[in-house]
Amino acid sequence: MRLTIFLLILCVFEYAVSVDHTKFKTCEQSSFCRRCRNVKPNNSKFALLPGTLNIYADSVTAELQHKINKHVFTLKIEALEDNTFRLLVDEKTPLKSRYRVTDALKSAPKPGSIKVQEGDAEFTITSGANKAVVISDPFRIDFYQNDVLTVSVNAKGLMTFEHLRTKPAANDAADEITDYGAWEEKFNAHHDSKPYGPEAVALDFSFPEADVLFGIPEHADTFALKSTAGTDPYRLYNTDVFEYILDSKMALYGSVPVLYGHGTQRTAAVYWQNAAETWVDIDTAEKNVVSSIVNFVSGSRKTDAPAAHFMSESGIIDVFVLLGPSPLDTFKQYTSLTGTAPLPQMWTIAYHQSRWNYNNELDVAYVSRKFDEYDIPMDTMWMDIEHTDGKRYFTWDQYKFPNPLGMIKNLTAVGRHLVVIVDPHVKRDNHYFFHHDCTERGYYVKTRDGNDYEGWCWPGAASYTDFFNPEARAYYASQYLPANYKATTTDVMIWNDMNEPSVFNGPEVTMSKDVIHYGNWEHRDVHNLYGHMHALSTFEGLMGRDPNQRPFILTRSHFAGTQRYALIWTGDNMADWGHLQHSIKMCLTEAVAGFSFCGADVGGFFGNPNAELFERWYQTGAFLPFFRGHAHLETKRREPWVYGEKTRLIVREALRKRYSYLPLWYTMFYEHEVTGEPIMRPLLTHYPKDKEAFAIDNEFLLQDRLLVRPVIEQGVKKVNVYFPAIDDKSNGDVWYNIDTLKRFTNVGYESIPVESDTIPVFQRGGTIIPKKERIRRASTLMKNDPYTLVICLNREGKAEGTLYVDDEKSFDYRNGIHNYIKFNFENNKLDVNPIGKLKYKTPAWIERIVIAGLERVPKSATLIIDGVSQELEVLPHGEAIAIRKPGTSVQQIYNIRLNY
Ligand code: NOJ
Repeated sequence: MRLTIFLLILCVFEYAVSVDHTKFKTCEQSSFCRRCRNVKPNNSKFALLPGTLNIYADSVTAELQHKINKHVFTLKIEALEDNTFRLLVDEKTPLKSRYRVTDALKSAPKPGSIKVQEGDAEFTITSGANKAVVISDPFRIDFYQNDVLTVSVNAKGLMTFEHLRTKPAANDAADEITDYGAWEEKFNAHHDSKPYGPEAVALDFSFPEADVLFGIPEHADTFALKSTAGTDPYRLYNTDVFEYILDSKMALYGSVPVLYGHGTQRTAAVYWQNAAETWVDIDTAEKNVVSSIVNFVSGSRKTDAPAAHFMSESGIIDVFVLLGPSPLDTFKQYTSLTGTAPLPQMWTIAYHQSRWNYNNELDVAYVSRKFDEYDIPMDTMWMDIEHTDGKRYFTWDQYKFPNPLGMIKNLTAVGRHLVVIVDPHVKRDNHYFFHHDCTERGYYVKTRDGNDYEGWCWPGAASYTDFFNPEARAYYASQYLPANYKATTTDVMIWNDMNEPSVFNGPEVTMSKDVIHYGNWEHRDVHNLYGHMHALSTFEGLMGRDPNQRPFILTRSHFAGTQRYALIWTGDNMADWGHLQHSIKMCLTEAVAGFSFCGADVGGFFGNPNAELFERWYQTGAFLPFFRGHAHLETKRREPWVYGEKTRLIVREALRKRYSYLPLWYTMFYEHEVTGEPIMRPLLTHYPKDKEAFAIDNEFLLQDRLLVRPVIEQGVKKVNVYFPAIDDKSNGDVWYNIDTLKRFTNVGYESIPVESDTIPVFQRGGTIIPKKERIRRASTLMKNDPYTLVICLNREGKAEGTLYVDDEKSFDYRNGIHNYIKFNFENNKLDVNPIGKLKYKTPAWIERIVIAGLERVPKSATLIIDGVSQELEVLPHGEAIAIRKPGTSVQQIYNIRLNY
């Protein structure tokens, strides 16, 4: 017992005090990474076996052989809908099955159709405007989109596929893997028994058309991926890295193996579907003039194309090649495979107040009351781990929280919500029902010798629910039923943390790779999916609890597809300017990898922000999709009022601004679910030809409507905002400052003066944005409030936009119970029309229409509904005009004409 307490204190202390690089492997310290990285280019060992090609309606199969050890592999190339191909390579007769990821895709991808043409040394698969030319020896596949070579597979010849073998390799002398870590590995004090020996897979992908590569979150790094020459590769291995450093290729909590290549002419991507530890080398192919000239003169293929080399420890090769051609096409191809975030409840996109921990019921009541006292909007309070009875999840600490239902009721009564944390580690306490049940029923992850795996986490000795076991998942999900999760209501939502999984005394702060999951899979095979399965189980639990209420789940660990169940945040950041800047870079990368619903701990998790940083962080957070203030246990209290009046007012203003844009956010979330297009977007999404914009990651777009460039530098009096070019440098959009409606028409950097309350945000000319300007204490209370439309005209005097309205809570919208409205402004006239039927009954109406960018001020406006006209008053509004009180319902069809 004493040892237990000592170890726990040590872990918590370590967790709270210092970062330790030696806890995490470098590529050189990892046997498979070392082996894959040592493969020399331009000498691929793989070739197609002649006479093995089989052609089907949507796919081909063939056999591949390793030319030295003669081992045979099956190759399948499928054409899918949406300019997508899938490539699968597995062993023809493996010693045992190799793991295939089955939980990431939202459903079986839709097949396309193909035609195949056979040549002597290659064959060509044609599918619509796309072509895959499969070259026999050395094995390579060139993917063409509209006859342009877009992605080349194994062009560098770095493919690896280590077949399973007995130890030592019997008749494998020529191919013997001699690396000292191939059959067992030691790292620090940890031993990995590696009973199956070497089983790595790797492949390289070149993007001849690309100027920039991006994707593969989660890393605290720039949006544009950097060359890994001379550094470690980017690592994808879900880990609880304490006090993570910036500008780093180290692994973090989530792994999404999708990587994009973008150039002025086209975009493409590869999704490497493998859940084992993965490293990715990046060759940015900084174009050198000599090689470009050689290529140009010889007309040869570009050999200096940007490229990525994916290396995974086990599993199979399962890759989706997405051929774009535009950035949005490519993003959508990815989300059509892995899914989108379902429309969340309105309150979840408003402001969340969290800290580790709010101490007790009085504290919660006090904080909630203070927000009201200072008239600062806030929708949700969060309960971190200290709310539980000794870190036994699904329970409450009886002393600090004797009456949780009363506390929840008090919050709900003022329109607010509560979120509670439920981690995946389970306290090993025989009196704890959850541990008892999991032990009895065999629901824990097992050691190699069949015992329950034990590690250390917040509760001390803990075991880990095996979410790969469908029964364990169902059991876990059932714990969310109100009958089981006593003292919560169906309005309480869930935070899944520490689910990499975090194991304080495990190798690299996670689970040993040789422990066993359901189906007899090693943890090695499924590691990056553990958090995904945890979030899925919670999602199933909340759906079971209340099938007509949209679940809200925050998860730290994630994989491709987790966005269907949960949103993410960037984990334990720090209260410094660098981490504030990285919150944008990281969420931008997550957004193109399917996670539009992303945010960072506002204020920084570790440390105490000064007032300026605190203010700027709220201003930035107000324009990121997930907006939550959160802080470490040992930080000073930092609710918006603790810094004094000036800061309180600045933060209040930022929060009010967020609330005023909630109708836009809600509309964007709806459109995200339906279209799969990200909400937060890098500039290149809509300005794909402007090279200057490719790597910009201190500003971003919200759809194509807002350009956000928050102040994220200390002590500045101005910021340089980049207004991107549509085609060449001379043509750009018109932008309007959202506070002043001042117009900006130039392309390039513009120096914008800023005060402490300025958030530089610009609405694009050509858009119409819905807002609400009566801010209340919580978004739930604003449901029936009237809307304001802000119309910003482009150079042709036109604009368009949408507004989405429903009950903000249930799934009724999936049965069409909503209003989706299209606004068009042209020739001095606004047309308002529904998209589909207007089926959601609401008293909400339009109270003001602001129009910016008109050449002259109109005398009045005429509203026409069903042929009946009514005059409306027009007033000056800063640099724009406002039409007062059109009074139209959001369920009406009408138009408004300006009169001169
Ligand atoms: C780690 C999480 O990242 C952090 O947000 C949380 O406060 C602590 N765990 C305690 O639960």
